[in-house]
Amino acid sequence: MTTELFLRYLHFISIFAIAGSLASEHMLLQKNLTRGSIGKIAKIDAVYGIASLTLLTAGLTLWLGEFGKPAIFYSKNWIFHTKLTLFLLIGLLSIYPTVFFIRNRKGNPEEIIRVPKSVFMLVRLELLLLFIIPLLAGLMSRGVGFFGN
Ligand code: HEM
Repeated sequence: MTTELFLRYLHFISIFAIAGSLASEHMLLQKNLTRGSIGKIAKIDAVYGIASLTLLTAGLTLWLGEFGKPAIFYSKNWIFHTKLTLFLLIGLLSIYPTVFFIRNRKGNPEEIIRVPKSVFMLVRLELLLLFIIPLLAGLMSRGVGFFGN
């Protein structure tokens, strides 16, 4: 019970950190940014990366560690698999913005860098997909989408 509670807590605070960091990145993005500002966004992006790992660890442990429901409750649920797919998709979409922030943060902090439109679009898409996932989580936790016996 205590372990399950802790894992759920970790799962939730990681979600808050992910939502907060992505929303902040979106707010801070501008067509033209100094390398100094890109450095700040890169730090926020690192928070997103770490939170994704803790989220994944807590989620996998809740699923396969059987601290609450049996693993099959999730393994045989197509809504759960859709949730995982969206999470992985967000991770894939984040690769290009992350590489852009890391590559452009170094150098003269006053130098102006043009931010490609695709970086804005990818961060927006990540946020959009992120807001769908809690709905899927709520459904699958109640057994909707279960296809086992
Ligand atoms: C951004 C990604 C994610 C979000 C927003 C998210 C959201 C949530 C939410 C809101 C719940 C609570 C559901 C409820 O009790 O009604 C939950 C539970 C859970 N999540 Fe996630 N989750 C994410 C990623 C993951 C991943 C990657 C995994 C597994 C690898 C995972 C596994 C689980 C499990 C096993 C539960 C427990 C469900 C239950 O109460 O039976 N989640 N998630």
